[in-house]
Amino acid sequence: MAEPTFPDVMDKLVSLCKRRGFIFQSSEIYGGTGSVWDYGPLGVELKKRIKDRWWNAMVRARDDIEGLDAAILMHPRVWEASGHVSGFVDPLVDCKNCKKRFRADDPRIKGTPGTPDAQCPSCGMKGTLSAARQFNLMFKTFMGPVEDTASVVYLRPETAQGIYVNFLNVQQATRQKVPFGIAQIGKAFRNEITPGNFIFRTREFEQMEMQFFVEPGTDMTWFEYWKAQRMEWHQSLGLAPARLQFHQHEKHELAHYARAAFDVQFDFGGTLGFQEIEGVHNRGDFDLTQHQQFSGKKLEYFDQPNNRRFVPYVVETSVGADRTTLAVLVNGYREESVAGEDEGRTVLGIHRALAPITAGVFPLVKKDGMPEMAEKLAADLRSAFPVFYDESGAIGRRYRRQDEVGTPWCITVDGDSVKDGTVTIRDRDTLQQERVAATAVRALLQERLGS
Ligand code: GAP
Repeated sequence: MAEPTFPDVMDKLVSLCKRRGFIFQSSEIYGGTGSVWDYGPLGVELKKRIKDRWWNAMVRARDDIEGLDAAILMHPRVWEASGHVSGFVDPLVDCKNCKKRFRADDPRIKGTPGTPDAQCPSCGMKGTLSAARQFNLMFKTFMGPVEDTASVVYLRPETAQGIYVNFLNVQQATRQKVPFGIAQIGKAFRNEITPGNFIFRTREFEQMEMQFFVEPGTDMTWFEYWKAQRMEWHQSLGLAPARLQFHQHEKHELAHYARAAFDVQFDFGGTLGFQEIEGVHNRGDFDLTQHQQFSGKKLEYFDQPNNRRFVPYVVETSVGADRTTLAVLVNGYREESVAGEDEGRTVLGIHRALAPITAGVFPLVKKDGMPEMAEKLAADLRSAFPVFYDESGAIGRRYRRQDEVGTPWCITVDGDSVKDGTVTIRDRDTLQQERVAATAVRALLQERLGS
């Protein structure tokens, strides 16, 4: 096997995320819930910034995409129409000896499951793996007080269907003309057989999806357009271009709805390597046609100038908010030595505009008017961006603590500051310190954030 291009930082990252309040295991005091995670104070800020950037790029900055926030619970027929009840399945095998479960296509399984020579990848026993059976990934629950089959509803496995069933509502309310898109951010749920790798594959996650409705025949042109747009967006998050690539789906990989599909993949390092963070799909008229059939309601677009009706084709962009958050964390994590110092440092070199804390503000010592001046500066800056005020411990340790959570700038109020009104700004990446007037800090950092 080829050597990984980037190191595996996952274990270190999981530990940092817990220690510093980015991400905690769900229900940890009860022993945790399988592959569900909670975002702590810094994690919720980071993920929110990623979602805001997506919303700004996809909805606010464009006049051809509208926003939507559809409900998680939908009419159960939606999932019959979409193909998820019959088709959203993974082949599952059980080991009768160790009771572990695997996807039947797990590359670690030797032999064909269900035959005597098949070997369990966990306990190593031969002949104990069951034949593959299909397992639906949708979570089921009940609507209303009586648990009978008439009230079964599903937790949505993708947000897209909420957009399709609202296609005409949005189009008529906004008077958009094809081509146009509808975008939404929301939770999705999948009872994954093999979740894992921290927040990479979980059972509850957030998607940022956009469905672009186009005239049939123009779909591949739009497909290429959206591929390029989405790759550019990932690069704009500061993800290293060498860690990003496209993967084209072969025929056998295509989802039941897709005519063509490309994944944007990110190299997570170690043996995980390149993995999907976003899918760009040409879904043709599959979804709207299915919903027309199952609901009995027309979902056609009226092309007024040409006086004709048609069911638009859909180009979908679907990106995981959690997976992108993980990519940003992995991409930013580094350990390095510092010239002239014995101890190295851990840095979360994330894009400055994504950092949960924009600036740390510190008085050098807790006396001589420094805390008062620093607190005043922190309060002023806080109205522009998130600030962390810290007056305890050695200044070097305070810097290191901010490096570790990705804070791009630390501002220190020292003895000179009290006399002449200047402070130092330390840059997380270059470690350069510059002295500027305290009154200029806010505008300076705002300018750097925007650039
Ligand atoms: N509507 C199309 C759709 O859902 P997908 O390729 O199944 O397509 C899109 O999912 C994105 O959602 C993935 O690229 C990934 O970022 C995210 N995603 C899917 N399953 C996930 C899971 N179990 N945990 C975390 N993110 C997931």
